[in-house]
Amino acid sequence: LTGQSKPGFKIVKFLKIIIGSFLITVLLLFTIASIRTLLLDVNVGLQLAHWEKTKNLSLVIDGHQREELLTNFKGAIRIPTVSFSETEINTTALLEFDRLLRKAFPTVFSSNLVHHELVANYSHLFWVQGSQPGLVPYMLLAHIDVVPATESDGWEAPPFSAQEIDDFIYGRGTIDDKSSVMGILQSLEYLLRKGYAPRRGFYIGFGHDEEVSGYQGAVNIVRLLKQRGVQLAFVLDEGLAVLDGVISGLEGPAALIGISEKGSATVKLSVSMVPGHSSMPPRETSIGILAAAVKRLEENPMPRLFGQGPERGTFEHLAHKFRFPVKFIMSNLWLFSPILGRVLERKPDTNAFVRTTTAVTIFNAGVKINVIPSLAEAYVNLRIHSAQSLQEVLDLIHSTVRDQRVKIELVDGFDPLPISSADEKSFGFQIIKKTVLDMFPTVTVAPGICIGNTDSRHFKDLTSDIYRFAPVWFKPGDAQRFHGINERISKKNYEELVVFYFNLIQNCDIQHLPEAHSSVHEL
Ligand SMILES: *[C@@H]1O[C@H](CO)[C@@H](O)[C@H](O)[C@H]1NC(C)=O
Ligand SMILES: *[C@@H]1O[C@H](CO)[C@@H](O)[C@H](O)[C@H]1NC(C)=O
Ligand SMILES: *[C@@H]1O[C@H](CO)[C@@H](O)[C@H](O)[C@H]1NC(C)=O
Ligand SMILES: [Zn+2]
Repeated sequence: LTGQSKPGFKIVKFLKIIIGSFLITVLLLFTIASIRTLLLDVNVGLQLAHWEKTKNLSLVIDGHQREELLTNFKGAIRIPTVSFSETEINTTALLEFDRLLRKAFPTVFSSNLVHHELVANYSHLFWVQGSQPGLVPYMLLAHIDVVPATESDGWEAPPFSAQEIDDFIYGRGTIDDKSSVMGILQSLEYLLRKGYAPRRGFYIGFGHDEEVSGYQGAVNIVRLLKQRGVQLAFVLDEGLAVLDGVISGLEGPAALIGISEKGSATVKLSVSMVPGHSSMPPRETSIGILAAAVKRLEENPMPRLFGQGPERGTFEHLAHKFRFPVKFIMSNLWLFSPILGRVLERKPDTNAFVRTTTAVTIFNAGVKINVIPSLAEAYVNLRIHSAQSLQEVLDLIHSTVRDQRVKIELVDGFDPLPISSADEKSFGFQIIKKTVLDMFPTVTVAPGICIGNTDSRHFKDLTSDIYRFAPVWFKPGDAQRFHGINERISKKNYEELVVFYFNLIQNCDIQHLPEAHSSVHEL
C-alpha cells in the first residue's frame, strides 16, 4: 500500500501545480482583460481637443434654401442614370444629368477657384484651388449612376419619381449615391456664395459607371490624376453610414467609417465529358461531378479569421457602448476572438465579418432530358476577408475541390483593399470623425469594413487613406432598401448631408491635427 501511495502523492502534487498555475493564468488574463475593458475608451482623445477654427462659416438652412436644395436633389433622382451592364448605360440620362448639375450649381461652374472637366464623356472631375499650395489636397468621391429599378417590384412610389411620403423622398439613388453627388456640390455652391476660398485645395470626382465596376469613370479619373502627379491626403467615398438601432445591445447610434473593403473573386468551375444517351449513362455525369465539387465548397467554408482584420478595431471602438459582459468580451478580442468568431458565423450577415464568404451563384448544365450533358459549369462568388489574399483563396478552392476533372478558372478578382489609418494621427479619419461628432454628439464613431466595393478602390495608388462614409441614417430594415425596393432618404437627412460636406470642407483647412488630450491605452 505504502509503495503505491508515493506515485499517487506525486500525481496529486503535480495536479496541484497544474491547477494552481492554470488559476493564476486565468486570474492574470482576467485582470489584464478587466483593466483593458476599463481603459479602452477609444472615443476620448481628439474629439475633446481644442480645434482651431480656420474658417467659420455655418450653414443654417432657411426656407428658400430648403426649397432650392430639395428641388435640385429631386431633379437628380428623376433622371434614370441606370447602369444595366458594363456595355449598357443610359447615356441620354447621363447627358441630361450633366445639364442638371450646371443649372443647379451656377456658382460652382462659374467660380475662378473651380476647374471642371469631363472624363470619359460622362464622369466629372472638379479641382477647387486652395490658397496654400503646400497643403496636400484631398478628394471627395461619389457616383452618378444607379442600379436598375422597376416599380412593379413593390415600390411605394415610382423609383424615378422622387415622390415624398411622410417626409421621405423615395427613389433609386436617394441613398446610393445621388445624395452625396448633390450634397457635395450643393455645399460647395453655398460655400462659394458665402465668399469661401479654401486653404487646402481639393478634388471632387463623380464616376458614371460605379455600379458596373468604374472601369470608365473612376479608372480614367485616376489615370488623369496620376499623369498630373497628384498625391492625395485622403479620399472620402460612399460606403458605410450611421447605424441607429441596427446593432443590438449598442447604446446610441454608431457612425462606421469604412477603412477597407473586402476583396472579391469570381471563379468558374466546369466539367466537360463526352456526351451520351441517357439510356446508357456513365457511373458519373458532368452534373454529378460538378455538384459534388460545389457541395464540398459549401461544406468546407473558408477559415475563420475573425479578429485578424479591421473588424477588430470596430469592436474595440464600440465596446464601451455595450453593457457587461459584452463590453468585457469586445474589449478583449486578443483573448475572445476565437469564441466570438464561432458565435458570429451563425448568421449570414455577421458571418461576412468572420471569413471569406463563398456563394455559388450560377449552375448550368443539360439541354435535353434524354442526353447526358457534355458540359456543366458553375460560378462561385467569393468576398475575401482582409486577412487573406486572392491567391490564398484560389489555393484553398483547389484543395477543397480536389478533383482533376473539375476545371477551375478565375474570371475576375482582386485582393482586399489596404487598411487605411484610423488612429489619432490619421488626418482624414479624424477630420471625418470631428465633423460627425460636431453635428451628432451622441454618435460613437468607429472604423468599419465595407463588405461591398466602391469606386474608391481604384484610388489606392494616389493615397494610403481611403474612407467610405456618408452621414446617412440607417434604421433597422433600411439596409434592404440599398439596391432594393423603396430606397429613400428623409428630407432632414439630405439637409444634414449638405451641412456635413459644408463643415467637412472647412475642417480640412486645418494645417495639421491638434494634439490629442488622451490616447488609446494599449496593454
Ligand atoms: C465664429 O463663430 C463664433 C461662434 O461659434 C462666432 O461667435 C464668431 O463671430 C465667428 N467668427 C467669425 C469671424 O465669423
Ligand atoms: C434613359 O434616360 C432617358 C432620360 O434621360 C429616359 O427617357 C429613357 O427612358 C432612359 N432609358 C432607359 C432604357 O431607361
Ligand atoms: C466619348 O464620345 C466620343 C464621341 O461621341 C466617342 O468617340 C468616344 O468613344 C467616347 N469616349 C468614351 C470613353 O466613352
Ligand atoms: Zn454606390
